Amino acid sequence: MNIDQKPLAVNPNILEMEYAVRGPIPQRAAELEKQGRAIIPCHIGNPQALGQTPITYLRQVLALVEEPSKISRERQLKALFEENPYSDLREEDFISEEILALSEDILAKSVTGMGAYTASKGHFFIREAIADFINQRDGYESSTGICADPENIFLTSGASQGVKFVIDLLIAKENDGIMIPIPQYPLYSASIKKAGGVQVNYYPDEERGWIFNRQILEEAFLSAKKDKVNVKGIVVINPGNPTGAVLDEQSMIDVIEFAQEHQLMIIADEVYQENIYQGKFLSFAKVLGTGRVPLISLHSISKGFFGECGHRGGYLELRNPPKIEDSSLDFADLLNKQASVSLCSSTPGQVLTYLMVKPPTENSNSYKRYIEEKNKILDDLHEKAVMVREAFSEMDGMECFGETGALYLFPRINGLPEGTIDFDYCMALLEKTGLCTVNGSGFGQREGTHHLRIAFLPPKELLAQVLPEWIKFHNQYVSK
Ligand SMILES: Cc1ncc(COP(=O)(O)O)c(C=O)c1O
Repeated sequence: MNIDQKPLAVNPNILEMEYAVRGPIPQRAAELEKQGRAIIPCHIGNPQALGQTPITYLRQVLALVEEPSKISRERQLKALFEENPYSDLREEDFISEEILALSEDILAKSVTGMGAYTASKGHFFIREAIADFINQRDGYESSTGICADPENIFLTSGASQGVKFVIDLLIAKENDGIMIPIPQYPLYSASIKKAGGVQVNYYPDEERGWIFNRQILEEAFLSAKKDKVNVKGIVVINPGNPTGAVLDEQSMIDVIEFAQEHQLMIIADEVYQENIYQGKFLSFAKVLGTGRVPLISLHSISKGFFGECGHRGGYLELRNPPKIEDSSLDFADLLNKQASVSLCSSTPGQVLTYLMVKPPTENSNSYKRYIEEKNKILDDLHEKAVMVREAFSEMDGMECFGETGALYLFPRINGLPEGTIDFDYCMALLEKTGLCTVNGSGFGQREGTHHLRIAFLPPKELLAQVLPEWIKFHNQYVSK
């Protein structure tokens, strides 16, 4: 008997949720690829998918902790080599003793090995190492009393998981809102939608390099208040995605003072902290100092020069945990509860996070190679960003504001033909050149403006090939 299945009622928030980074343009790109077209995937910050090589230090340790028998095997092979001076092998062909010892140390400290669940927050020794990293990065010592606390650090399967934990906790009622910058990385709009809350937009000043000030924040807050929205937190992405812009210190001070006055939690997404090509990263924790505003900071192994997106690792740090209404628990307890439901974050992600915050020291013999690989990746990224920015200057009406940071450029496309929008432009660009970008509307933008986001990740030779085609396409498209 063939009984028709009754349509299933599902969570309407998930039905309505959108995520442009994997939306219609990348979907069309996948179709074209199946038909044999060469596609250049610049729609997503996925460095290793575009040929970035993993950092040797990270992968050697990861391989050894995953397969510990290789540690003694490596030592045996090295001993054989030393006994046999006629072999073709060289010292560098072996994994260094330092890496072997580090891998043993990780295995000893993690006790249960890679295949077991860890504590919900992640291994304690890794959380301690993260706290040291933060204190060193921000120049704090334990005597100042504003140090990171390992108990308020949570290892996560990528920063995305941390963001979801926090947003799910903050949205308690349907008029609860979270302020997000426009344009924004759609993880935020999607997570707010899924949690059933209200997205409250604020608009960084594009022409001033996407920085903002108190007035911009107050306007957004006031307008939400008029709509009876109860704003609970503010998200800041620095360096930005999709804009790539790097925030100035004054904007950060403004956010902190604003959050203090309106009793908001700051969610500082700092996953691109290594992707600053001129100047030095300044963290929200550092600018906050002894301030009492609740602050969540997020970091990840996916970006920087690691690009280990697929391994899913990162951490969330909480400062000044707020008390909870009608409960003796605090925010950290509830994050722990959330983490417990997921059991624990991925163990390879935890190990890679450990190595991210504990790079080889200057006197170690892995240092030279590590620094060479790091600098090569970051220098290449910067060069590629410059190549793309230079191409914009040959495109009629294309404007790109702000310093270059993160992995993206977000130019404004002026002068699109009547009746067309940035989505049409990106789709036509894909069809014509194989270059897959994301339309600005996927991230949000001021009404009447049009943008696109490009991840400057493809190899330089490929960029050198496609950029002239893009310039040609662009100048023809906008002259229609
Ligand atoms: C601003 C921002 N935050 C968070 C994430 C998520 O990173 P993860 O891979 O660590 O989940 C991304 C990924 O692109 C991002 O751009």
